[in-house]
Amino acid sequence: MRRRDELIPITDVRCGDEELDLVAEVLRSGMLAQGRVVETFEALCREMTGAAHAVAVNSGTTALVVALEALELEPGDEVVTSPFTFVATLNAILEAGAVARFADVRDEDFNLDPARLDGVLGERTRAIMPVHLYGQAADMDPIVAAAEACDAAVVEDAAQAHGATYHGRRVGTWGLAGFSFYATKNLQSGEGGVVTTDDGELADRIRILRNQGMRARYEYLVPGHNYRLTDLAAAVAVPQFARLDDIVESRRAHAATYAEQLAGIDGLVLPEVMDGRGHVWHQYTVRVTDEARHARDDVVAGLQERGIGAGVYYPRAVYDYDCYRDHPGVRVGDGCPVAESLGSTVMSLPVHQHLTDADVAAVVAAVTELLG
Ligand SMILES: Cc1ncc(COP(=O)(O)O)c(C=O)c1O
Repeated sequence: MRRRDELIPITDVRCGDEELDLVAEVLRSGMLAQGRVVETFEALCREMTGAAHAVAVNSGTTALVVALEALELEPGDEVVTSPFTFVATLNAILEAGAVARFADVRDEDFNLDPARLDGVLGERTRAIMPVHLYGQAADMDPIVAAAEACDAAVVEDAAQAHGATYHGRRVGTWGLAGFSFYATKNLQSGEGGVVTTDDGELADRIRILRNQGMRARYEYLVPGHNYRLTDLAAAVAVPQFARLDDIVESRRAHAATYAEQLAGIDGLVLPEVMDGRGHVWHQYTVRVTDEARHARDDVVAGLQERGIGAGVYYPRAVYDYDCYRDHPGVRVGDGCPVAESLGSTVMSLPVHQHLTDADVAAVVAAVTELLG
């Protein structure tokens, strides 16, 4: 989050009077746990996605865990996902007891490459979990077709993609989807998450799993969890939904300025908006390649010296850590060369809605000074 010495932070978490008022109202009400504000939050999530059901949970990670658990996986069942993602995607698969497999990403959009699914899908595949990385939807049509062909579910990791669209369709409606409301996301409740789906039976199962496996008090139907969201956290998020369009619009405006003013710099590859996508710019992620005047890490350091909070999301393929390398639930196969190489080239620039025009100009000036 924000470092004291950063003039232009990569994320800037601000709560307005509406959030303060609603949080105060919850505190005064004496009902701090899951209650009516969570119901409002769920209604707003249905509205945001167009999904018939939304089940609030206490993080984006637990949203993905219960989404997978609702599929009633058997030991050895496999979930195919992106190797270039935040670790929560992989941890959720392992927590749900499944085996994680990976299809490589495309470097144009950093998302699952549908052409790479073929070699990874198999008899044990129960779900494909595309990640809508940085706020841009994965290429859903071929992914859904591949899932249908092997009778697998689609579980979207929409943690970074509130309001993103794919050929006009909002993310969160292809099967099951998990969104995060972690403090730095485009919509946030400090910690929080939601599962959206059109499937009433799955939504019902998820509600039960969220609440210690019970529908009625002390009547346990399955071993469950406490994954409940609190009204206190929901109260932070609820007022923000009305501002989502403005948040996205302002992020798009900043991205458009970068696209125009950072074009043509050697070794700086700007992010692409793929055909038919409504990108919501959770991150604005460029690639600093070998042709650049400085190595990526030096550019990040140079920006930080100038008070600009550049970040690296993510430094390695998600499986490329000792704790996963020999993990029985992680099957890497021949590896994912695109994901593995992205880790050393990606760099995210501030794109959030609180940037001023002067901030964006300062980012452009600093990047140009370092690389132009
Ligand atoms: C791609 C991705 N998946 C899952 C998560 C998990 O969300 P949370 O941090 O709310 O558990 C995050 C966010 O942190 C994320 O960026």
